Amino acid sequence: MAGLSDPALGDPVLLGVDPARHAYAGAGHRWADDATLAYRPLAEHLVGRCALTPNNRAVLDAGAGTGAVGAVLAAAGALVTSCDLEHDMLCGDRGVSRAGSAVVADIAALPFRNSMFDIAVAGFVLNHVADPVGGLSELGRVTRTGGVVLASVFGEERAPAKEAIDAVLVTRGWQAPTWYRALHERAAALATSDQLAGAAVRAGLVEAEVDCTNVDVGLDDPALIVRYRFGMPQVSVFLDTLTASARAAIVADAIEAVERTGTSFRPSVVELVARVS
Ligand SMILES: C[S@@+](CC[C@H](N)C(=O)[O-])C[C@H]1O[C@@H](n2cnc3c(N)ncnc32)[C@H](O)[C@@H]1O
Repeated sequence: MAGLSDPALGDPVLLGVDPARHAYAGAGHRWADDATLAYRPLAEHLVGRCALTPNNRAVLDAGAGTGAVGAVLAAAGALVTSCDLEHDMLCGDRGVSRAGSAVVADIAALPFRNSMFDIAVAGFVLNHVADPVGGLSELGRVTRTGGVVLASVFGEERAPAKEAIDAVLVTRGWQAPTWYRALHERAAALATSDQLAGAAVRAGLVEAEVDCTNVDVGLDDPALIVRYRFGMPQVSVFLDTLTASARAAIVADAIEAVERTGTSFRPSVVELVARVS
Protein backbone atom coordinates (compact mmCIF):
# COMPACT_ATOMS: atom_id res chain seq x y z
CA MET A 1 0.00 0.00 0.00
CA ALA A 2 1.28 3.46 -0.83
CA GLY A 3 2.35 5.61 2.11
CA LEU A 4 1.56 9.27 2.55
CA SER A 5 5.08 10.14 1.47
CA ASP A 6 4.59 8.31 -1.84
CA PRO A 7 5.25 10.89 -4.58
CA ALA A 8 2.27 9.47 -6.48
CA LEU A 9 0.05 10.84 -3.74
CA GLY A 10 1.48 14.35 -3.99
CA ASP A 11 2.15 16.86 -1.24
CA PRO A 12 0.83 15.66 2.14
CA VAL A 13 0.00 19.27 3.05
CA LEU A 14 -2.21 19.55 0.00
CA LEU A 15 -3.85 16.29 1.02
CA GLY A 16 -4.85 17.91 4.29
CA VAL A 17 -2.17 16.17 6.35
CA ASP A 18 0.51 18.54 7.57
CA PRO A 19 3.54 16.43 8.56
CA ALA A 20 5.10 19.34 10.44
CA ARG A 21 2.03 20.20 12.49
CA HIS A 22 2.57 18.15 15.64
CA ALA A 23 6.34 17.75 15.35
CA TYR A 24 6.86 19.15 18.86
CA ALA A 25 4.47 16.80 20.66
CA GLY A 26 6.45 15.24 23.51
CA ALA A 27 9.44 17.55 23.05
CA GLY A 28 8.86 19.78 26.08
CA HIS A 29 11.43 18.52 28.58
CA ARG A 30 14.30 18.23 26.11
CA TRP A 31 13.47 21.65 24.75
CA ALA A 32 13.39 23.27 28.17
CA ASP A 33 16.59 21.61 29.37
CA ASP A 34 18.70 21.70 26.22
CA ALA A 35 17.38 23.56 23.17
CA THR A 36 16.66 26.60 25.35
CA LEU A 37 20.42 27.07 25.74
CA ALA A 38 20.25 28.75 22.33
CA TYR A 39 16.60 29.83 22.25
CA ARG A 40 16.74 31.90 25.43
CA PRO A 41 19.53 34.19 24.10
CA LEU A 42 17.69 34.33 20.77
CA ALA A 43 14.58 35.43 22.69
CA GLU A 44 16.59 38.12 24.49
CA HIS A 45 17.86 39.40 21.16
CA LEU A 46 14.34 39.61 19.70
CA VAL A 47 12.76 41.22 22.77
CA GLY A 48 15.61 43.73 22.80
CA ARG A 49 14.18 45.11 19.55
CA CYS A 50 10.74 45.79 21.02
CA ALA A 51 9.67 49.38 20.45
CA LEU A 52 7.60 49.40 23.68
CA THR A 53 9.00 48.84 27.17
CA PRO A 54 7.47 45.55 28.34
CA ASN A 55 6.85 46.59 31.96
CA ASN A 56 3.14 46.18 32.85
CA ARG A 57 2.24 45.46 29.24
CA ALA A 58 -0.13 42.66 28.27
CA VAL A 59 1.96 40.39 26.07
CA LEU A 60 1.15 37.33 24.00
CA ASP A 61 3.93 34.78 23.47
CA ALA A 62 2.53 32.81 20.52
CA GLY A 63 4.10 29.44 19.76
CA ALA A 64 5.64 29.89 23.17
CA GLY A 65 7.06 26.40 23.43
CA THR A 66 8.58 26.15 26.89
CA GLY A 67 8.48 29.92 27.36
CA ALA A 68 11.86 31.25 26.25
CA VAL A 69 10.39 34.53 24.97
CA GLY A 70 7.84 34.81 27.76
CA ALA A 71 10.54 34.39 30.40
CA VAL A 72 12.49 37.33 29.00
CA LEU A 73 9.36 39.48 28.87
CA ALA A 74 8.19 38.46 32.35
CA ALA A 75 11.62 39.36 33.72
CA ALA A 76 11.08 42.82 32.21
CA GLY A 77 7.74 43.15 34.04
CA ALA A 78 5.32 42.09 31.29
CA LEU A 79 2.09 40.22 31.98
CA VAL A 80 2.57 37.21 29.76
CA THR A 81 0.00 34.94 28.18
CA SER A 82 1.55 31.93 26.43
CA CYS A 83 -0.01 29.82 23.73
CA ASP A 84 1.26 26.87 21.76
CA LEU A 85 -0.13 24.04 19.68
CA GLU A 86 1.46 21.52 22.04
CA HIS A 87 0.28 21.10 25.62
CA ASP A 88 3.49 19.22 26.29
CA MET A 89 5.65 22.19 25.29
CA LEU A 90 3.68 24.52 27.56
CA CYS A 91 4.09 22.00 30.40
CA GLY A 92 7.86 22.03 29.84
CA ASP A 93 7.87 25.67 30.96
CA ARG A 94 9.58 25.70 34.31
CA GLY A 95 7.19 28.42 35.44
CA VAL A 96 9.59 31.30 34.87
CA SER A 97 7.44 33.01 32.28
CA ARG A 98 4.02 31.85 33.36
CA ALA A 99 3.02 34.92 35.29
CA GLY A 100 -0.20 34.89 33.30
CA SER A 101 -1.92 31.99 31.65
CA ALA A 102 -1.08 29.35 29.09
CA VAL A 103 -3.45 28.13 26.42
CA VAL A 104 -3.22 25.37 23.83
CA ALA A 105 -3.98 27.24 20.61
CA ASP A 106 -3.10 27.50 16.94
CA ILE A 107 -1.52 30.77 15.84
CA ALA A 108 -3.79 30.56 12.78
CA ALA A 109 -6.90 31.01 14.96
CA LEU A 110 -6.03 32.60 18.28
CA PRO A 111 -8.69 32.29 20.98
CA PHE A 112 -8.35 35.91 22.10
CA ARG A 113 -10.51 38.93 21.42
CA ASN A 114 -9.37 41.80 19.23
CA SER A 115 -6.82 44.30 20.54
CA MET A 116 -6.34 42.70 23.96
CA PHE A 117 -2.52 42.73 23.95
CA ASP A 118 0.02 45.55 23.81
CA ILE A 119 2.68 43.30 22.32
CA ALA A 120 2.46 39.98 20.45
CA VAL A 121 5.57 37.89 19.83
CA ALA A 122 6.19 34.80 17.73
CA GLY A 123 9.70 33.40 18.24
CA PHE A 124 10.61 30.85 15.54
CA VAL A 125 7.02 29.82 14.94
CA LEU A 126 6.00 31.41 11.64
CA ASN A 127 8.52 29.19 9.87
CA HIS A 128 6.51 26.21 11.17
CA VAL A 129 3.12 27.16 9.80
CA ALA A 130 1.63 26.68 6.35
CA ASP A 131 0.24 30.23 6.29
CA PRO A 132 2.64 32.68 7.97
CA VAL A 133 0.67 35.68 6.68
CA GLY A 134 -2.41 34.28 8.42
CA GLY A 135 -0.38 33.87 11.62
CA LEU A 136 0.91 37.43 11.45
CA SER A 137 -2.64 38.70 10.76
CA GLU A 138 -3.82 36.95 13.91
CA LEU A 139 -1.01 38.52 15.93
CA GLY A 140 -2.08 41.90 14.53
CA ARG A 141 -5.74 41.28 15.27
CA VAL A 142 -5.20 40.52 18.96
CA THR A 143 -2.82 43.50 19.40
CA ARG A 144 -4.17 47.00 20.03
CA THR A 145 -3.66 49.90 17.66
CA GLY A 146 -0.17 51.26 18.23
CA GLY A 147 0.93 47.96 19.73
CA VAL A 148 3.92 45.97 18.56
CA VAL A 149 4.28 42.64 16.77
CA LEU A 150 7.65 40.90 16.99
CA ALA A 151 8.66 37.78 15.11
CA SER A 152 11.81 35.81 14.36
CA VAL A 153 12.71 33.06 11.90
CA PHE A 154 16.02 31.52 10.90
CA GLY A 155 17.88 33.07 7.96
CA GLU A 156 19.06 31.27 4.83
CA GLU A 157 22.65 30.84 5.97
CA ARG A 158 23.11 27.57 7.85
CA ALA A 159 25.60 27.60 10.72
CA PRO A 160 28.62 25.30 10.07
CA ALA A 161 28.12 23.74 13.53
CA LYS A 162 24.61 22.60 12.56
CA GLU A 163 25.91 21.05 9.33
CA ALA A 164 28.72 19.30 11.18
CA ILE A 165 26.38 17.84 13.81
CA ASP A 166 23.84 16.65 11.24
CA ALA A 167 26.64 14.99 9.22
CA VAL A 168 27.74 13.02 12.28
CA LEU A 169 24.15 11.98 12.96
CA VAL A 170 23.76 10.71 9.39
CA THR A 171 26.86 8.52 9.71
CA ARG A 172 25.24 7.05 12.84
CA GLY A 173 21.99 6.13 11.12
CA TRP A 174 19.90 9.26 11.69
CA GLN A 175 17.55 10.25 8.93
CA ALA A 176 15.85 13.61 9.01
CA PRO A 177 12.18 12.91 9.77
CA THR A 178 9.62 13.66 7.06
CA TRP A 179 8.20 16.54 9.09
CA TYR A 180 11.65 18.11 9.40
CA ARG A 181 12.22 18.01 5.66
CA ALA A 182 8.77 19.53 5.11
CA LEU A 183 9.60 22.22 7.66
CA HIS A 184 12.82 23.08 5.85
CA GLU A 185 10.97 23.68 2.61
CA ARG A 186 8.42 25.82 4.40
CA ALA A 187 11.08 27.78 6.27
CA ALA A 188 12.92 28.53 3.01
CA ALA A 189 9.92 30.60 1.90
CA LEU A 190 10.31 32.90 4.90
CA ALA A 191 14.08 33.04 5.43
CA THR A 192 15.01 36.42 3.98
CA SER A 193 14.32 39.97 5.14
CA ASP A 194 12.28 40.61 1.99
CA GLN A 195 10.15 37.52 2.53
CA LEU A 196 9.38 38.31 6.18
CA ALA A 197 8.78 42.01 5.42
CA GLY A 198 6.46 41.04 2.55
CA ALA A 199 4.50 38.72 4.85
CA ALA A 200 4.14 41.54 7.41
CA VAL A 201 2.79 43.93 4.77
CA ARG A 202 0.35 41.32 3.45
CA ALA A 203 -0.81 40.77 7.04
CA GLY A 204 -1.68 44.48 7.31
CA LEU A 205 1.08 45.41 9.75
CA VAL A 206 2.76 48.81 9.39
CA GLU A 207 6.17 50.37 10.03
CA ALA A 208 7.74 46.95 9.49
CA GLU A 209 11.46 46.83 10.19
CA VAL A 210 13.25 43.62 9.35
CA ASP A 211 16.87 42.73 9.96
CA CYS A 212 18.92 39.65 9.19
CA THR A 213 21.77 39.21 11.67
CA ASN A 214 24.10 36.58 13.00
CA VAL A 215 23.23 36.42 16.68
CA ASP A 216 25.84 35.65 19.30
CA VAL A 217 24.00 33.23 21.56
CA GLY A 218 27.02 32.86 23.82
CA LEU A 219 27.49 29.15 23.11
CA ASP A 220 31.24 29.03 22.64
CA ASP A 221 31.63 25.59 24.21
CA PRO A 222 31.09 22.90 21.50
CA ALA A 223 29.57 20.60 24.12
CA LEU A 224 26.81 23.15 24.75
CA ILE A 225 26.18 23.60 21.04
CA VAL A 226 25.73 19.83 20.71
CA ARG A 227 23.49 19.74 23.78
CA TYR A 228 21.23 22.48 22.38
CA ARG A 229 21.04 20.73 19.02
CA PHE A 230 20.35 17.31 20.53
CA GLY A 231 17.47 18.83 22.50
CA MET A 232 15.51 19.44 19.31
CA PRO A 233 12.79 16.95 18.41
CA GLN A 234 14.16 16.04 14.98
CA VAL A 235 17.16 14.57 16.80
CA SER A 236 16.01 13.77 20.34
CA VAL A 237 13.44 11.19 19.19
CA PHE A 238 16.24 9.30 17.38
CA LEU A 239 18.66 9.60 20.31
CA ASP A 240 16.02 8.18 22.65
CA THR A 241 16.07 4.93 20.64
CA LEU A 242 19.79 4.38 21.38
CA THR A 243 21.64 2.89 24.30
CA ALA A 244 23.42 5.27 26.67
CA SER A 245 26.82 4.25 25.30
CA ALA A 246 25.74 4.74 21.68
CA ARG A 247 24.38 8.17 22.60
CA ALA A 248 27.58 9.08 24.40
CA ALA A 249 29.64 8.07 21.33
CA ILE A 250 27.54 10.28 19.07
CA VAL A 251 27.82 13.19 21.47
CA ALA A 252 31.62 12.81 21.53
CA ASP A 253 31.79 12.64 17.72
CA ALA A 254 29.53 15.64 17.36
CA ILE A 255 31.59 17.72 19.78
CA GLU A 256 34.75 16.88 17.81
CA ALA A 257 33.00 17.76 14.55
CA VAL A 258 31.92 21.15 15.92
CA GLU A 259 35.48 21.80 17.14
CA ARG A 260 36.79 21.02 13.66
CA THR A 261 34.59 23.72 12.11
CA GLY A 262 36.79 26.21 13.96
CA THR A 263 34.03 28.80 13.76
CA SER A 264 31.93 30.36 16.45
CA PHE A 265 28.24 29.57 16.57
CA ARG A 266 26.30 32.61 15.37
CA PRO A 267 22.98 31.51 13.87
CA SER A 268 21.53 33.68 11.13
CA VAL A 269 18.22 35.12 12.28
CA VAL A 270 15.64 37.33 10.59
CA GLU A 271 13.72 39.53 13.02
CA LEU A 272 10.60 41.62 12.44
CA VAL A 273 9.35 44.56 14.48
CA ALA A 274 6.08 46.08 13.27
CA ARG A 275 3.19 48.17 14.51
CA VAL A 276 -0.54 47.63 14.41
CA SER A 277 -2.55 50.44 12.82
C1 LIG B 1 11.02 26.22 17.31
S1 LIG B 1 9.83 26.12 18.58
C2 LIG B 1 9.99 27.74 19.32
C3 LIG B 1 9.46 27.78 20.72
C4 LIG B 1 9.69 29.12 21.45
N1 LIG B 1 9.02 30.22 20.80
C5 LIG B 1 11.16 29.39 21.61
O1 LIG B 1 11.64 30.40 21.05
O2 LIG B 1 11.82 28.60 22.32
C6 LIG B 1 8.32 26.25 17.69
C7 LIG B 1 7.08 26.16 18.57
O3 LIG B 1 5.95 26.53 17.77
C8 LIG B 1 4.88 25.66 18.09
N2 LIG B 1 3.95 25.66 16.97
C9 LIG B 1 4.12 25.08 15.76
N3 LIG B 1 3.07 25.31 14.99
C10 LIG B 1 2.21 26.08 15.72
C11 LIG B 1 0.93 26.64 15.46
N4 LIG B 1 0.31 26.45 14.29
N5 LIG B 1 0.35 27.37 16.44
C12 LIG B 1 0.96 27.55 17.64
N6 LIG B 1 2.18 27.03 17.93
C13 LIG B 1 2.79 26.30 16.98
C14 LIG B 1 5.55 24.33 18.36
O4 LIG B 1 4.73 23.46 19.11
C15 LIG B 1 6.80 24.77 19.12
O5 LIG B 1 6.56 24.84 20.50
